[in-house]
Amino acid sequence: MKIIIVCFIVYVTLSVVNSEKCDGLYLNNKFHRKEILSKNLDRPYQLSYDKHRHRIYFSYNIGKEEEDCFNIAYIEKGKTEHKVKENIENGFAIAIDNTNDRIYFGGSLGIYEESIKKENGTRKIIDGFNIWDMFIKEKLHFINYPQQRLYKCEHEESGVKAIRQKHIHEKIYQYAIDGNENSYITNRTGLYMIKNGTSDRIFIKGINNFRCIEVDNQGEVYFCGQHGIYVINTEDYTLEKIAEIRNIFGLTFDHDNNFIFSNPHEIVKLLAGDCK
Ligand SMILES: *[C@@H]1O[C@H](CO)[C@@H](O)[C@H](O)[C@H]1NC(C)=O
Ligand SMILES: *[C@@H]1O[C@H](CO)[C@@H](O)[C@H](O)[C@H]1NC(C)=O
Ligand SMILES: *[C@@H]1O[C@H](CO)[C@@H](O)[C@H](O)[C@H]1NC(C)=O
Repeated sequence: MKIIIVCFIVYVTLSVVNSEKCDGLYLNNKFHRKEILSKNLDRPYQLSYDKHRHRIYFSYNIGKEEEDCFNIAYIEKGKTEHKVKENIENGFAIAIDNTNDRIYFGGSLGIYEESIKKENGTRKIIDGFNIWDMFIKEKLHFINYPQQRLYKCEHEESGVKAIRQKHIHEKIYQYAIDGNENSYITNRTGLYMIKNGTSDRIFIKGINNFRCIEVDNQGEVYFCGQHGIYVINTEDYTLEKIAEIRNIFGLTFDHDNNFIFSNPHEIVKLLAGDCK
């Protein structure tokens, strides 16, 4: 009995010491400590950062059995609890236009727009599309479901028009444009780069299953695989892993360009340097 108790005390002491050790990971060969912004979440996808209110938006699974039931929620600055964004039917996609202070929510019935600064209500701008993913580069782009086609939104006087982008003829899962105006698409085969002003698809070797493509505040593009963050080496068009993260689900960048990622249960910010 005594031995068991002693063992137990040693075990408890060791775990306390361990948990006080600096928790972090290497990003671009530099140690970064992890700051857990929220936990006990259920598979937070599609992270997006509102630079005005410093909120992190995400979507998450709500169905127990049904695979395709989602809600949009957000975490306010300094809080760990999430708040649900109501009235977006099957809300899955989020895009924030920090330049024009607009936030877009995409669900199974279309796209809704809100002003970030005014908080004067929500307006439905696109009807009749089931939204799979959205991306902003000057204009809002979206991919519909289940067709997986790319559209661009044009704000016109009569309303917002969705215009099919025929130059992307593939059925795609993700789409992004980086700061050099190169585009990226993913489909079942993998990742392709389309250089600015060309239409050639350059296959990027490495992995072929992606959870997100995100562009940071400087226009650099990052790719999330199942277990890490990657960049493209443009000498040989291969992916290079810059951070090993088990089961990464989403990625975004705050106003200081810090990486914020999600795993199946948490949203985590990475800060360069050791724990204080
Ligand atoms: C909120 O205000 C903006 C700017 O004046 C306007 O464009 C937008 O339509 C308004 N939103 C709603 C829902 O009234
Ligand atoms: C992309 O291509 C267009 C037209 O070919 C050109 O005007 C523009 O400057 C290019 N953008 C960049 C960032 O190189
Ligand atoms: C993905 O797109 C590439 C480039 O257009 C194409 O060659 C490939 O066949 C596509 N894969 C599928 C599964 O459609």
